[in-house]
Amino acid sequence: MTMAEYKLKVTTGSVQYVGKMDYKYITLIGTEGQSERTKLDNFWIDFQTRTTRTYTIKSSFSLGKVLLVRVEKDPFLFLPEDEWYCAKIVVTTPEGDDTLFPCYRWIKRGEEVELRGGKAMKGFEEEHALLIEHRKKELELRKNTYLWAVNDDKLPHNSHFKDVSEMQAEVRCSASKSDELRYGRLIMAIELKFKGMVGSSERWDDIENMKRIFWFKKTEMSEYVSEHWKEDDFFGFQFLNGVNPNVIERCSKLPPNFPVTEEMVKPFLRDGSTLKTEMEKGNIFLCDQKIMDGIPAWTKDGNSLHMTAGLCLFYMNPESKLMPIAIQLYQQPSEQNPIFLPSDPETDWLLAKLYVRSVDMMEYEAVHHLMNTHYLAEVFAVATLRCLPVIHPLYKLLIPHFRYTLQINTIGRQILLGPDAVFDVSTIGIEGLKEVMRRAQSKMTYSSLCLPENITARGLESIPNFYYRDDGLKLWNIINGFVRSVVEYYYPSDSDVREDTELQEWITEIFTHGFLGNKLSGCPACFNTAQEVVKFITVVIFTVSVQHAAVNNGQFDYSWVPNGSLQLLKPPPTTKGQSNMKTILDILPNVGHTVKFVATAWLLTDKYTDVVPLGTYPEERFDEPDPKRMIKEFQAELSYLSEEIAERNHQLKVPYSYLSPTVIENSVTI
Ligand code: FE2
Repeated sequence: MTMAEYKLKVTTGSVQYVGKMDYKYITLIGTEGQSERTKLDNFWIDFQTRTTRTYTIKSSFSLGKVLLVRVEKDPFLFLPEDEWYCAKIVVTTPEGDDTLFPCYRWIKRGEEVELRGGKAMKGFEEEHALLIEHRKKELELRKNTYLWAVNDDKLPHNSHFKDVSEMQAEVRCSASKSDELRYGRLIMAIELKFKGMVGSSERWDDIENMKRIFWFKKTEMSEYVSEHWKEDDFFGFQFLNGVNPNVIERCSKLPPNFPVTEEMVKPFLRDGSTLKTEMEKGNIFLCDQKIMDGIPAWTKDGNSLHMTAGLCLFYMNPESKLMPIAIQLYQQPSEQNPIFLPSDPETDWLLAKLYVRSVDMMEYEAVHHLMNTHYLAEVFAVATLRCLPVIHPLYKLLIPHFRYTLQINTIGRQILLGPDAVFDVSTIGIEGLKEVMRRAQSKMTYSSLCLPENITARGLESIPNFYYRDDGLKLWNIINGFVRSVVEYYYPSDSDVREDTELQEWITEIFTHGFLGNKLSGCPACFNTAQEVVKFITVVIFTVSVQHAAVNNGQFDYSWVPNGSLQLLKPPPTTKGQSNMKTILDILPNVGHTVKFVATAWLLTDKYTDVVPLGTYPEERFDEPDPKRMIKEFQAELSYLSEEIAERNHQLKVPYSYLSPTVIENSVTI
């Protein structure tokens, strides 16, 4: 009898606390039978971080083609559970063929994890009965493990995990086990830095004193904001290149509820020009905050704050600066709701801008950050975990883009939306925040998530100095090209798409749980062509990487509270000429709340030590050379773009660096 020898190269993950002590067992399952359950009997040193060791599994007969690798773990002596992070196993057959079995997950005691290896397979391509059965079971298990939860029937659904500790070893991805403690530690550290200011109900007696908050941490941009926040051109700049580049639109006709007259704005236009002419030239833009109209403001202990829902008109002047030229703070025009102008007394105009920025911050956090990136990312992640088995080509492509997303959203719901959390003390309050999200959800369109369509729909194709658009569109094209090459490789014809029932179920779940079955959203409920898949996957990767970076990464830079406060304590003036700097100090949050807002912005931009930048796939999931080559090409294009952006930024007074590929993460992690 000849012995068949299988060589195994087992790689442990590049994370801390990988789990060195427990016994590990492997069984190889082949087309002709299975090997004995074999203990990987080396010393614990074998399973240290980032090591690869070779083992031999002997079988008294040839196993044929190796289909599955079963991995198990048993206790070592009486030591407590020591989960193991297994990265991958490469099996070499007696004939010398290598097959990659990606794992990239924690394995718990008593778990029986069966790894699929080899090239990516769609369901209808499976031929072996054992694998067909394995695939079916895997999906059944996933659907029982990852459940949809409906917290609010008008908002995107989310994963059912209420706490990180409930999460499966599998989705804790490569993040180290101690990550769940990280937030608690960070909050404590931040509070220590702010000692004496946390919870203080003292009032600021001078805006300059707020700089005390920034003694421990500042960025070039946070300093710039604190110096320039009063300036009109910087106010306009933020609507293009700040944290919320998502709201302004070209204006070719004034809304009927915004009765700006030629006379009012004439002094701010180029000599001899009129509003009508400038509109025709495409130089007039509008920010309309109507989504906030009628949102109930925060009420606590009998005190209530005031929500405004403003309209702000901008002029792109001949120096290519976007200047605010008229502001009305409530939707309905009236005598008590004057249109403020740059020629008004300085503090009146500054107050008007303050209310617009404050509401912009709230809308931005609720809609453009939380809902359109975090919540959507979670929908994409849960649908992928439920509907696509690990051997599916699109699982391999997408799963790196959901790393840590379920954790951060679960933690985020606790720390942002909990009692006394930052939104709880904001003007909008938790209830108002949810209401804004519901309104935005009911109007959310698939098209608005596709950046080229979004820019065109808002008429912003040619507005100058719009770096979010310039960088975003280049990134969109690079991602789209990469996705196209991968999708067309696995789906050479449209019939492949139609036959892939797992993929069809995936998009149906997204349509149902993310877009709440709203056909008017334009989100596909099924796929008919490969091109539709290319576009959708582009949206997924773009949203969780580029779009999230654009709205997330500048939060601390822009956390200078007077520039955009989540809380303003008094209603805006109803008549002009009554305000002074004291009025402004009176509406700004107290010391404790100011600290809370800055600390949260810090928390939300603090990076992990193991950041994975866009296009970097440290996990080897594809076994075929073609997708590996496509990934390399993707990376090369991103690297060229990084250089291009760095060069451009070098020439700019205020650089726009949020969309440099080097700082964009592959997934929503923060
Ligand atoms: Fe975020």
